Amino acid sequence: MDGNTTAPVVRALIRGVGHYLPARVVPNAEFAATLDTSDEWIRARTGIERRHFAAEGQGTSDLAARAARAALADAGLQPDDIDAVILATSTPDLTFPSAATMVQAELGMTRGFAYDVQAVCAGFVFALANADAMIRAGLARRALVIGAETFSRLMDWTDRSTCVLFGDGAGAVVLEAGQGVGSAADRGVLSADLHSDGRYRAALYVDGGVSTGTIGHLRMQGKEVFRHAIEKLAETAHRALDKAGLTGADVDWIVPHQANLRIIAATAQRMQVPMDRVVVTVQDHGNTSAASIPLALSVGRQRGQIRDGDLVVAEAIGGGLAWGSVVLRW
Ligand code: UT7
Repeated sequence: MDGNTTAPVVRALIRGVGHYLPARVVPNAEFAATLDTSDEWIRARTGIERRHFAAEGQGTSDLAARAARAALADAGLQPDDIDAVILATSTPDLTFPSAATMVQAELGMTRGFAYDVQAVCAGFVFALANADAMIRAGLARRALVIGAETFSRLMDWTDRSTCVLFGDGAGAVVLEAGQGVGSAADRGVLSADLHSDGRYRAALYVDGGVSTGTIGHLRMQGKEVFRHAIEKLAETAHRALDKAGLTGADVDWIVPHQANLRIIAATAQRMQVPMDRVVVTVQDHGNTSAASIPLALSVGRQRGQIRDGDLVVAEAIGGGLAWGSVVLRW
């Protein structure tokens, strides 16, 4: 989509944002009790200091519904004002129905439609692009776009190279159709850039599912994913900015997927955006997969970083590999 056509266009505007983190906080030191690891290693190699884990019996849909309620409250809207619930997750409570329909029921919504989007860590970017397209096509006027995960359920607790990296949480935004003039000065979603390449599916996957009759554990070739992330994230962000008729110099905030502080910093450097223009939450949340960007958007608003009118670039990469970015003006 071209952000600079200067003709009246429908824009998906951000009307509200919110998040939820489960109560249990796990500091790095807890892992050192059972694994050959240390707080120093985890901080130095990833930037992670702590993460939240969901309580026993607390499913992804529970986290998602709490984040959705917070976003609705921020928007000043009721559940029945929403036409579409789009939930990015790779850890739905059950194989089906979608966690999104569980959220719909939990919120008491009896109208509209709900479905999950599964693009692993890039899930929220895909869901946001999907919701934007729905709104511009007139299929929905207001959409709840949620990223929610309980990756703690996929961990192999004997594998120090993965189990220290991930956390649980949820974030949500409310999008609403509005009018723009078709320029990059418009508010709302301005452009998106999405990719996947299944040749790299073995770099990051879960070794279980319907075909094995088990939930399985997350397996990752960390170095391989790291290499792709460094190469692909700045590239996709630049492509999305280009589609909107903007450059890195126009960016107020990068809101990156929060997997590793070294990846976040390298991407910012490649985009020539200073780190004080990057929302960083990885130290407190770890990698929450599809929840990480909406969590960072919500925390970034709470901290007073992201202000009305600011230009935000969200970018992410994960299992698939799948990656992409969205440019929006708050
Ligand atoms: O969200 C989806 C996208 N995912 C990502 O973006 C993750 C991308 N990858 C990464 O962030 C990094 O590759 C990791 C954080 C996963 C690993 O960092 P690294 O600097 O690439 O470390 P490495 O895998 O090369 O391992 C270096 C050493 C190894 O020991 P040897 O072989 O040099 O003796 C590992 O066994 O560090 C060891 N190691 C650890 N040591 C202490 C691996 N995990 C740990 C640990 N504690 N938790």
